[in-house]
Amino acid sequence: MMNIPFAESYKIKMVESIRRSTRSEREKWIKEANYNLFNLRSDQVFVDLLTDSGTGAMSDRQWSEMMLGDESYAGASSFYKLKNAIAEITGFPYFLPTHQGRAAENVLFSTLIKAGDIIPGNSHFDTTKGHIEFRKATAVDCTIDEAFNTTLDHPFKGNVDVQKLEKVLSSNPAEKIPMIIITITCNSSGGQPVSIENIRQVSGLAKKYGVRIIFDSARFAENAYFIKLREKEFANHSIREIAREMFSYADGMTMSSKKDAIVNMGGFIGLRDQALFQQASVYNIMFEGFVTYGGMSGRDMNALAQGLYEGTEFDYLETRINQVAFFGNLLREACVPVQFPIGGHAVFIDAKRFLPQVPKEQFIAQTLAIELYIEGGIRAVEIGTIMADRDPETRENRYPDLELVRMAIPRRTYTNNHLHFAAAHIINVWERRNEIKTGYSIRYEAPIMRHFTVELEKN
Ligand code: F0G
Repeated sequence: MMNIPFAESYKIKMVESIRRSTRSEREKWIKEANYNLFNLRSDQVFVDLLTDSGTGAMSDRQWSEMMLGDESYAGASSFYKLKNAIAEITGFPYFLPTHQGRAAENVLFSTLIKAGDIIPGNSHFDTTKGHIEFRKATAVDCTIDEAFNTTLDHPFKGNVDVQKLEKVLSSNPAEKIPMIIITITCNSSGGQPVSIENIRQVSGLAKKYGVRIIFDSARFAENAYFIKLREKEFANHSIREIAREMFSYADGMTMSSKKDAIVNMGGFIGLRDQALFQQASVYNIMFEGFVTYGGMSGRDMNALAQGLYEGTEFDYLETRINQVAFFGNLLREACVPVQFPIGGHAVFIDAKRFLPQVPKEQFIAQTLAIELYIEGGIRAVEIGTIMADRDPETRENRYPDLELVRMAIPRRTYTNNHLHFAAAHIINVWERRNEIKTGYSIRYEAPIMRHFTVELEKN
């Protein structure tokens, strides 16, 4: 009997050409881009793994929903379609549309966070941390230590360390802690999931100390998929049942719909409490738009509603996460040091183990990301010292425990052949890793979220 291989739960109806380039072209382009991969033009990249955010392929049903969009300023049917989808999938009765995830953070944090506040969580995403620090508040990382050992096998490396969390909660007055943020899945530690058991423990502490829980939900469906596979209690539950269970412990959520809702642009806030919804509505109207569109057109809300249903189907998630694992396992088999287990949306290379000879002051993960581009036209992103920014008080570089290169896989976009191509190039760099001895220095940087616009020069 043949072993039956895995096959995608969709077929392809539209294609987009991509172009290969030569090594000398890429050396010139990356120099012109000041060694910042965000400055490359997309046609200078062959396999673009910069992000899985807004880069997925919409389905035929999503495109047909675009045609049904209601562009009325107030009370559009598209708003109600989206409201119903959000209520059905998350259980939140109130919602505010925003143009993307960080806009949801901006609106909700304007409502809840003041200077001097403390916001514990599991490795806050950079825009989340940026919005906290911009308000002169502090993000405290309470992720479990296992998350920072890339070789350690652990089913839920996104989990919150409840002891670290309780220490923060017990040593600060509740008025200074407007929320605990749980990021599902935890992007910064490698697309690693959080278990329901852990969410329940955090919920217990939150109740004990009278603090609300907000989920940063960009990849909530991938989190639910891992719970189904790894948490016995949920083996026979549907993805949507698990999502409802997860959200039942939260007071609210911010969502970047560009990830698990498979749209190119969009976001929202989900809330349980009417008073909080009313307060946040004021900021939504100021920053985003009226409460029934808030930064989104009617057609985009329609596509998002459809995307929420498709993104929470088991077959789709199985296809998606198997593809990410396929890519990660090609690298693991060649001994390339990657975060293990392989996460939901991306494969993370442990750059300190890849290039131990490059000094941390010369940006190890960025050096590796540049090398992968030059080698094969593969664009990844640094999640290391450049992204960690400077300490807002001392202005010193913050050196994170992990220097990672993230290769995020867009949803329904590349075939396994593309990923095989990318893996072969990465393995070639691995084989000549000892030749890479020096990194880069900063020529220009912005005061916050510098990684997007930083300019570097070769050492
Ligand atoms: N939260 C998480 C966990 C994210 O990964 C992102 C975005 C955001 C919030 C902000 O959402 O981009 O819609 O404003 N992550 C992208 C990425 C940029 O590449 O991981 P946004």
